[in-house]
Amino acid sequence: MPLPKINPTQTEAWKKLTEHFNATEHSEMKGYFNEDPERASAFTIQWKDFYVDYSKNRITGETTDLLLSLAEEVGLKEAIGKYFAGDTINETEKRAVLHTALRAGKNTDIKVAGTNVMPEVFAVKNKIKAFSEQIISGAQKGYTGKAFTDVVNIGIGGSDLGPAMVTEALTYYQNHLHVHFVSNVDGDHVHETLKNLDPETTLFVIVSKTFTTQETLSNATTIKNWFLKHAKQEDVARHFVAVSTNLPQIAAFGIADDNVFPMWDWVGGRFSLWSAVGLSIALAVGYDNFDKLLQGAHAMDEHFKTADFRENIPVMLGLIATWYNNFYQAESEAIIPYTQYLSRFSAYLQQGIMESNGKSVDRTGNRVDYQTGSIIWGEPGTNSQHAFFQLIHQGTKLIPADFIGFVHALHGDQDHHNKLMANFFAQTEALLQGKTDEEVIAELQAKNTGEDEIKALLPFKVFEGNKPTNTILVDKLTPESLGALIAMYEHKIFVQGVIWNIFSYDQWGVELGKQLANTILNDIQNSTMAPHDSSTTQLLTYFKNKS
Ligand code: F6P
Repeated sequence: MPLPKINPTQTEAWKKLTEHFNATEHSEMKGYFNEDPERASAFTIQWKDFYVDYSKNRITGETTDLLLSLAEEVGLKEAIGKYFAGDTINETEKRAVLHTALRAGKNTDIKVAGTNVMPEVFAVKNKIKAFSEQIISGAQKGYTGKAFTDVVNIGIGGSDLGPAMVTEALTYYQNHLHVHFVSNVDGDHVHETLKNLDPETTLFVIVSKTFTTQETLSNATTIKNWFLKHAKQEDVARHFVAVSTNLPQIAAFGIADDNVFPMWDWVGGRFSLWSAVGLSIALAVGYDNFDKLLQGAHAMDEHFKTADFRENIPVMLGLIATWYNNFYQAESEAIIPYTQYLSRFSAYLQQGIMESNGKSVDRTGNRVDYQTGSIIWGEPGTNSQHAFFQLIHQGTKLIPADFIGFVHALHGDQDHHNKLMANFFAQTEALLQGKTDEEVIAELQAKNTGEDEIKALLPFKVFEGNKPTNTILVDKLTPESLGALIAMYEHKIFVQGVIWNIFSYDQWGVELGKQLANTILNDIQNSTMAPHDSSTTQLLTYFKNKS
């Protein structure tokens, strides 16, 4: 059964939220805290090792009640049931959306077109386990009999960002294998990577759901040609494996049947790290850690499926983000992890969130007349504090931000961790409290600043505050907690897509650029020139003349 097609702006809840917004738009969060000593605990969800405090938002009890009514009116509960049951909710591609099946228990029965997919899921998992263990242990060797030292993941988009982000995030848990990622069709990317690699000890994992992606096939071909300068055709079978749904194309590329890790069309690229797309993760941190990542995600799935909406982390985060996006008209959301390990987390979520909810046509095929997906951006704290925080504190835009932090550091350096976390807490407090005229004056007077200078400096030194943040505090960065964190955002995407009445699981918007690139490649490689706008023609002519 498809998802319901309800225009959110036509619901009773939306009308009430509009009135409520008009009445509370200029309220100060500080006032809410002063009025209600229980506010922090009332707006905190504790689940396993997650402590999610969303009290520093421009919301009251009435706001959450109305947002929850909205969730009810758009049929979120039933929609969640359809999502997990494998209904064809990706209607434009006629597919189920079942990345959750990849982390479900073995005895679950999840059917796609009447067939339980779990035996196949576990067959592939077993293959990942056996293969990764053989490579890590050195039992499977390269063409000259040496153990593998390096792995190169060749893929782009979801076939790169997920494995790259997780491998980086779990560096602490990594074994001796060096895992590299080649994604860009920029030849400098692949050649820079190959420069330091030894063909005798390098394994190549080609990851492409469709096996038609220009970037991936170009990089894979360049790498295979480089490899064949050192080794023989029959050695390809030992050094190249592929992850894809397109088995005929893999065979045409020359990959042995045994070296193919299948995936399924019901796994979207940007949600695929849980499938064999995560093979490089299993190679980097070992299968047990890969499995723990899946278990963490599964725990979050169960939470999302079963927790009352008020206690449901993805639901509440999705509703609050919708409040800012559609009522405050906030254009973007920042995601700031306070750990260097999550340095690729925002880039990963950019694809997950923006490719999913960057849509302007609703589920009935009509153009929406309300805002949908937010712009996602961010970098780890504390580095980001010294880069773009100025704009969050004193710029003209409202930027709700998620602060993600950990109670324990992995290397246990308490001195550093205390400083890191002091900054983590200080920023959300500063964003809430700001700094008043009186505080600035008192501070300057204490430094014996003259009255005229105080007057001149005052407007620049005042912070409005009242900037919203969510604090997501987790015990420790482990494979399990990382899995849960990623799944939390995946489900937030779902919640918002349901509310906005859009299809979150297709990505037609990336096709046009791909088609035009093929036409232009033809223009670059030949003496012909297809019709273009005058700017593009001029640029192409300049490039062709100079290159
Ligand atoms: O950029 C669009 C996209 O289809 C993504 O959704 C996907 O993750 C990426 O390209 C790579 O696709 P493939 O895995 O088929 O090579």
